[in-house]
Amino acid sequence: MGKRVAIVTANRAKGEEAKRILQGFGIEAEVVEMEKLEVQSEVLEEIALRAARAAFEVLKRPLVVDDSGLFVEALNGFPGPYSSYVFKKIGIRGILKLLEGEANRSAYFKTALAFVSRDVERVFVGVVRGRIAEEPRGSRGFGFDPIFVPEGEDRTFAEMESWEKDRISHRARAYEAFAKFF
Ligand code: IMP
Repeated sequence: MGKRVAIVTANRAKGEEAKRILQGFGIEAEVVEMEKLEVQSEVLEEIALRAARAAFEVLKRPLVVDDSGLFVEALNGFPGPYSSYVFKKIGIRGILKLLEGEANRSAYFKTALAFVSRDVERVFVGVVRGRIAEEPRGSRGFGFDPIFVPEGEDRTFAEMESWEKDRISHRARAYEAFAKFF
């Protein structure tokens, strides 16, 4: 029998996406919907690890928690760990406005994935580099996908098929690193 892990998330859709990714690596995962402890920190690794520890206190079995953000170079890494809040408050239009007239469009998405079990704690990281488009394009995906163009592509994440995004995304890379360890 293979090893099992729980994917703890407040967002079932994201959990199911992570489950599919892990299944691709032969890992059986179960999605557990639970409010995530959100600590105030500028470090994704710390946010994910603290949330995973808190979830372990409740569930007491091997689990992962992930946390992601969009880091824009010309904005010194903003919105980074505050991406979901910033997305809710000023959205894609707000980010584009902050970058008006800015030649440096470099940005990256990063995921920190924390694994906690009874005797092991590990954090895995996945990054995808790219740039912020001049205007939103595409209707797939979520969040900042319509303005993020991954390196080596002309299309935004929102213009790509979900399987194409899943091959190169920050989240997929973090889960891949975890899968190799697990
Ligand atoms: P979470 O930690 O995965 O919930 O991500 C936090 C926020 O970062 C989300 O609410 C989105 O605004 C943004 N974000 C994270 N991953 C992605 C992605 O793959 N595409 C677009 N936006 C993302």
